[in-house]
Amino acid sequence: MKNSSGTITQFAVGLLTLVTAGLFVLAGCSRSSEKVAKPALPQPSTQTASAIYTGSAVCGECHTAESATHSVSHHAKTLQVMDRKSLGELAPPEGAIPGTNYALSTQKGRFRVALANAPERGDTLDLVFGSGKTGMTFVAILGRDSLAELRMSYFPKDHKWYVTPGQEHLTDMKLGKIHKGEFPRRCVFCHAVAVPDNALVSEKKLLGVGCESCHGAGSEHVKAMRTDKTGDLHLERLTRLSPPEKNKLCTRCHTTGQNVSELEMNAAADATRRFPLFGLQKSRCFTANQENLSCLNCHTPHSNANPDPKSYEAACLKCHTSPAPNAATQAFTVGKPCPVNAKTGCINCHMPLGKILPGSKIPTQTRDHFIRVHRDTTHPAKP
Ligand code: HEC
Ligand code: HEC
Ligand code: HEC
Ligand code: HEC
Ligand code: HEC
Ligand code: HEC
Ligand code: HEC
Repeated sequence: MKNSSGTITQFAVGLLTLVTAGLFVLAGCSRSSEKVAKPALPQPSTQTASAIYTGSAVCGECHTAESATHSVSHHAKTLQVMDRKSLGELAPPEGAIPGTNYALSTQKGRFRVALANAPERGDTLDLVFGSGKTGMTFVAILGRDSLAELRMSYFPKDHKWYVTPGQEHLTDMKLGKIHKGEFPRRCVFCHAVAVPDNALVSEKKLLGVGCESCHGAGSEHVKAMRTDKTGDLHLERLTRLSPPEKNKLCTRCHTTGQNVSELEMNAAADATRRFPLFGLQKSRCFTANQENLSCLNCHTPHSNANPDPKSYEAACLKCHTSPAPNAATQAFTVGKPCPVNAKTGCINCHMPLGKILPGSKIPTQTRDHFIRVHRDTTHPAKP
């Protein structure tokens, strides 16, 4: 990205001297380099990436409705340049990072992390992973296939720092962890439109989950639409995909059960909140309806998840109606009506809020996509 090779080396050296032999144990969302699904889309060089991907702003010139919600979504903001201008009020405070030996400072709007007692030992941070809805993880790009991930992540809503998941075993002395090889490229691949061949990230316009992360490269489409050659869209109409095909789009990035069971999660069974797709895959609603239930039954691809639990009840009641719909006339397997409340309140009882990472200090709560009767918490067994 921006760094002169001098500062890259300085940061690399700074970290290398601080971090132990556990350095190359990989972390982040998915903790293994080998086991994340291989990227499904081609990974062009920087030049080709710019040529075939337009970035979401261009799409927005014509598709104003999709763009209005997408451009401000957590998808769009999940990877940003680490500077004051991009972060705005989500920016972390300058000064000592609690519980560590290092401090954050800014210079001309860019952030720098360094040892508090040796300010020359450190470097500029380049990128922010995470929209700020929950945790934001700051990284420095070290080269075309390596990045340094800070040991502490910032949670702007709480104005607090917590240990980055996967780095719990590093002591307070460590600045963070260096990821090398295929894995850092996967991090970017899941948080951006494309990963170029000869660099870890390309231009700003391709950071974040953009229109083309799901719809594919759009230059040809734009060219054709601008010259009114609408006969061939040069894009697939995703509305025509079957529910499993739609899920597959999301699976490019949202971790599947297979990924999770392969991860070194200390309690993989607890990961149903961390990884929604993994949770949903365990639900009987899904296992009985693999051909007909997709993420899009409950979510729209162009906006954030609706925080109102009531807004999801219609989706539940499509299957769990009382009296039960005529199974023979339904394209999907219908479920039974609820014996406790057949009309409302479904989400709070069957997708209750809970800590995203059980056993961690991170207080973030999310809904459990493993839809079931929660005898343990919301519905303790009757005496
Ligand atoms: C110059 C205007 C223009 C630009 C820029 C543009 N589109 Fe389109 N797009 C159109 C038109 C016109 C159609 C055809 C609508 C139709 O026939 O249904 C279309 C159709 C589509 C469809 C199919 C819609 C459907 O009904 O299934 C998708 C998806 C799409 N565009 C995505 C994109 C993406 C992604 C970008 C950015 C890479 C983009 N468009 C940029 C004009 C544009
Ligand atoms: C397999 C794709 C994938 C990879 C690889 C990946 N992420 Fe993510 N990341 C996601 C998805 C999807 C989410 C949203 C939560 C979810 O559904 O799992 C997310 C969420 C996040 C968040 C928001 C906070 C949170 O935990 O929800 C941060 C920060 C983050 N990732 C950082 C990273 C970093 C840093 C790396 C590499 C070291 C990385 N991710 C690698 C897909 C990925
Ligand atoms: C997370 C994946 C994802 C992203 C990001 C995304 N789309 Fe879509 N888009 C879809 C899916 C899936 C559908 C089909 C929705 C359906 O069948 O209900 C779709 C449908 C559409 C349609 C057809 C609309 C309709 O309802 O007929 C257009 C046009 C479109 N998208 C444009 C865009 C543009 C422009 C952007 C960026 C501003 C964008 N999309 C971002 C996944 C995505
Ligand atoms: C290119 C990778 C990628 C693809 C493809 C993708 N997602 Fe995501 N998604 C992410 C990441 C990363 C986040 C975390 C955003 C953040 O930092 O808060 C996320 C967050 C979300 C959220 C939470 C939004 C919120 O309100 O916070 C929903 C819902 C979601 N994705 C649904 C989908 C669906 C449905 C699809 C398929 C149509 C899909 N995603 C495809 C990467 C992806
Ligand atoms: C039966 C309904 C349903 C289905 C199907 C569903 N979700 Fe959700 N999802 C929800 C609800 C309810 C929430 C909570 C929204 C909130 O409180 O903000 C949610 C929230 C999310 C979030 C945000 C988590 C957070 O709190 O930060 C992500 C990411 C997500 N869903 C991804 C997915 C993906 C990927 C799929 C497909 C595998 C999917 N969901 C399928 C109901 C559903
Ligand atoms: C596409 C249809 C479909 C949708 C949508 C759906 N379900 Fe289901 N669900 C089923 C089927 C089929 C079963 C298995 C038969 C049964 O127990 O009724 C099931 C089972 C269940 C069970 C019993 C689980 C168990 O392990 O015994 C609960 C609770 C449940 N669903 C709640 C919900 C809630 C709440 C929603 C909305 C957030 C929802 N379902 C959405 C079809 C669906
Ligand atoms: C106050 C909490 C509560 C609310 C609200 C609620 N449920 Fe339930 N639900 C339960 C409990 C408890 C059970 C288990 C009942 C039993 O086994 O005696 C259950 C059972 C179920 C079952 C399994 C039925 C069977 O016979 O296997 C389904 C399906 C279900 N609920 C769906 C829903 C849907 C859909 C909604 C919203 C319209 C909903 N529930 C609202 C608490 C609730």
